[in-house]
Amino acid sequence: MSRTLFVTTALPYANGSFHIGHIMEYIQADIWVRSMRMSGHTVHFVGADDAHGAPIMLKAESEGITPQALVARYAAERPQYLNGFHIEFDHWHSTDSAENVELSQDIYRRLKAAGFITSRTIEQFYDPVKGMFLPDRYIKGECPTCHAKEQYGDSCEVCGAVYAATDLIEPFSTLTKARPILKSSEHFFFKLSDPRCVEFLQAWTTGSNASGNKRLQSEVLAKTREWLGTGTADSEANLADWDISRDEPYFGIPIPDEPGKFFYVWLDAPVGYLASLKAYCNKQNIDFDALLDPESDTEQVHFIGKDIVYFHALFWPAMLKFSGRKTPDGLHVHGFITVSGEKMSKSRGTGISPLRYLELGMNAEWMRYYIAAKLNSHVEDVDFNPDDFIARVNSDLIGKYVNIASRAANFLSKHFEGKLAYLGDEQTLQAELKHVTEQVRADFEIREYGRAIRHIMAHADHINQAFDAAQPWIMAKGISTADAAQKAALQDVCSRALAGFNALSVMLTPVLPVLADKVARELFGANASYRWSDAAQLPRQISPFKHLMQRVEPKMLDDLFEPPAAPAVTPGGEAIADAIDIKDFGKIDLRIAKIINCEEVDGSDKLLRLTLDVGEGRHRQVFSGIKAAYAPADLVGKLTVLVANLAPRKMRFGISEGMVLAASHSDDKVDSGLYILEPWPGAQPGMRIN
Ligand code: 2FM
Ligand code: ZN
Repeated sequence: MSRTLFVTTALPYANGSFHIGHIMEYIQADIWVRSMRMSGHTVHFVGADDAHGAPIMLKAESEGITPQALVARYAAERPQYLNGFHIEFDHWHSTDSAENVELSQDIYRRLKAAGFITSRTIEQFYDPVKGMFLPDRYIKGECPTCHAKEQYGDSCEVCGAVYAATDLIEPFSTLTKARPILKSSEHFFFKLSDPRCVEFLQAWTTGSNASGNKRLQSEVLAKTREWLGTGTADSEANLADWDISRDEPYFGIPIPDEPGKFFYVWLDAPVGYLASLKAYCNKQNIDFDALLDPESDTEQVHFIGKDIVYFHALFWPAMLKFSGRKTPDGLHVHGFITVSGEKMSKSRGTGISPLRYLELGMNAEWMRYYIAAKLNSHVEDVDFNPDDFIARVNSDLIGKYVNIASRAANFLSKHFEGKLAYLGDEQTLQAELKHVTEQVRADFEIREYGRAIRHIMAHADHINQAFDAAQPWIMAKGISTADAAQKAALQDVCSRALAGFNALSVMLTPVLPVLADKVARELFGANASYRWSDAAQLPRQISPFKHLMQRVEPKMLDDLFEPPAAPAVTPGGEAIADAIDIKDFGKIDLRIAKIINCEEVDGSDKLLRLTLDVGEGRHRQVFSGIKAAYAPADLVGKLTVLVANLAPRKMRFGISEGMVLAASHSDDKVDSGLYILEPWPGAQPGMRIN
């Protein structure tokens, strides 16, 4: 029976490039999608950028661009990663789109009409300088438990304590260094505590989809049971209502009829799955509403990481259910990727840069193969280990699989004009190939990729052993003068090896789509990509074998991980910093500033207070640690250089709105003077320095 599937991967925040964790998830999903398509199922596979939220708004602001421009910049670099790793989404969209506004607002209106939205006034930290409510990650202070300084507003990285931002000692805003004040505001909540919600979620999380598969993996179900209780009287569900609103300024979707209020980014992010599908349907003339009708047979599947299960297993199905929409049929949750056992940092990613991998000329299919070999259907972390990578690619992929073709094809081309022929019963061979392929297909379907690869390699071993046992190189000696039986025997041995190779190529198609296509089309003369059913077809003719795949050179892995060589120390006392590109440099807004006034600061023996004209029609106050080098009167009227987009900093003596540039030795103990910069004559206040 042919199925229709709607498949997504988690939508990446649009304020950073893809790291290897994203690529792993997309490869996992792409393998699944390809495998389902090979069975003849219809799959709509979409992604999108997760564009909204405070971090994106603030990052854009710090670069002096609109959030839309920031999102567009990251969107523009997505294709080189996706194409590079052969990840074929049908469509890539953005949550900052007309479709998403319409769908998110519609879902909200329906939830409200059904009595699932409530509002109440809450008090939160507010940055009086910046004029905005502060998400926890923008508040720091002293840990109330262990008194470590500079800890975030939700938990302490030193002692692990979890607390409310308001518990921090001496809290400050990381945006302005100002002390946040408590301010109240009306917030809107999705009533997850509503008994209808709990009842629905208990059924949804424990249930199966139309194909008879459990919606959740056992370990994911166990997690949701912790949150939901088991439905028995002694384990009450304890779901808090979910705060879905944020106050302006916020980059997000306006809440209908609530001026100044926006949906929290996590409300509209998953709706982005639907928005992307809708945009795709419009493009393809597919009936979106019919596809996602609650009664339709479409299976909706989300590939996600283990860190966002709460959103996808509770909020998302409940939002869909109570807005009268189709609910998801499966969550495919994976673990994280580690590199040689080391956890990845959210900001720096891992030691593996996907772009560097591609730039080094490393084959994307090696990575796809390696990841497939390590993945299973459980929520387990996957470790990238360079030696293991080399071994699996070179010994398994090249040594076992690719070599079959190079060894067998040459005999057939040389002695039999590329014709294949089998002695005896073809059906037994076909049945054998069909049997292995079916095991492998079934494993891909349940996401036991590692086991699928083990079956494939075991079969490759089996083919190689039969080939070696027959010793065709001995059979080929003097073959031109040999009798018909010997010729037929050689042809049979090589044909069987190639029939096996054909089947192995079918089985590897989801993982190695480019290589398999090359095999299908160039070696076996097919005019379409492989489907599962092609594995049991015995090939009759081959074209001369062409090189299929390079081995990995260990040096490539050294290059992949090698940090840039350490530069020598300069007379300035410090090595030149790591290379940045022009984009990074462009983030720093340097301006010519005229020093209108300069005075000493009472109580400070380092600082001077400068009043600067940067051509803005107002003056700025900047504190600068240059008192030891300059007398205030010598500076008044001079031009200098200001970092104009440095976030304002609250200092003991007032707010400093930028930084004046000065040169000195990097080690304060070496006193070789301090020199503020001055432009050549002719520069005007406000001019940008490039
Ligand atoms: O965790 C993240 O990276 C989120 N941007 C994932 C969103 S998934 C979906 F809900 F959009
Ligand atoms: Zn602590």
